[in-house]
Amino acid sequence: MRIGMLTGGGDCPGLNAVIRAVVRKGIQHHGDEFVGFMEGWRGVLDDATMPLTLETTSGILHRGGTILRSSRTNVKKVAGGFERCVEVLGKHKLDALIALGGDDTQSISLELVQRGVKCVGVPKTIDNDLSGTDACFGFDTAVGIATEAVDRLHSTAEAHNRVIVCEVMGRDAGWIAITAGISGGADVILVPEVPIDMDEVCRLVTYRREHGKKFSIVVAAEGAKLPEAEQVALGTALDSFGHVRLSGIGQMLAEEIEKRTGYETRSVNLGHTQRGGTPSPYDRMLATRYGIAAIDLVHAGKFGRLVVLKGTQITDIPLADAIAATRTVGQDLLDVVTGLQPLRG
Ligand code: F6P
Repeated sequence: MRIGMLTGGGDCPGLNAVIRAVVRKGIQHHGDEFVGFMEGWRGVLDDATMPLTLETTSGILHRGGTILRSSRTNVKKVAGGFERCVEVLGKHKLDALIALGGDDTQSISLELVQRGVKCVGVPKTIDNDLSGTDACFGFDTAVGIATEAVDRLHSTAEAHNRVIVCEVMGRDAGWIAITAGISGGADVILVPEVPIDMDEVCRLVTYRREHGKKFSIVVAAEGAKLPEAEQVALGTALDSFGHVRLSGIGQMLAEEIEKRTGYETRSVNLGHTQRGGTPSPYDRMLATRYGIAAIDLVHAGKFGRLVVLKGTQITDIPLADAIAATRTVGQDLLDVVTGLQPLRG
């Protein structure tokens, strides 16, 4: 078979491991040929490609980023975009297309499926919020980076009797914040799922001081917000899928905590550090399993589907189900956070 592959949306560690697994099994077991489209859907629209062979995909398992590069190109915003995609994919005589991406990327795959393109999806988002799968690769790596940062912030916060607010990724779901926050022993954890209660934040910070601890760590997801308020963003510009660039909730919280409690407070935004660098062993495993499952789906003739993790098993679901809703942090984990905190008086 001739198979196209692309990586769309924000990158995350493990993309190269998926590409490698797909190409290895496809070539070695089926004699497939691969065409890599550069920079997500932009590569399809511009017909910008690179060969994907055993040679070009060798030595990439441990590398972050993606050898296919990525973009947030939205085909829906390009006049005649879908027709152009069908034309380019046809020109390459492709039997199937494997798209690695989150809900934005998979929404384009779904439209192409409806136009007869044989797409298979691989779930990818550092935020870990794609519904239908229990985990996305890259998340474990990001949590490792964020947890190490929280650990490191403890000693400097303690040395200066400070509160430090650590802002982490998580637009609509606080998976990184809650996992790194609990693992790193943060005193306060703020997620998009629960509006910020400033009185409660300050109560928790003050309680610590009154019980012998002279510093506090607050972990906040970038998408956390005050009740009735907008998410804190850098300007108002939207990307092609309509998202603002979130950033600044950490600094806003730091200023408010210092003003209300009088404790010296700093903020740090981990930003894209969380998406960079080498994938953890867990993410290499998960990405490799997804890659093998994706090429197996192609050869089973099961299109319009997304490979997913359910418990410990890889399976697949309709693409439409994956983009139907955001997978948010559940009450069970929120209860773990409150279980570690002093009861409200
Ligand atoms: O969607 C994943 C994500 O990492 C979000 O957590 C973050 O808001 C956004 O991407 C950042 O996007 P960009 O890489 O375009 O700045």
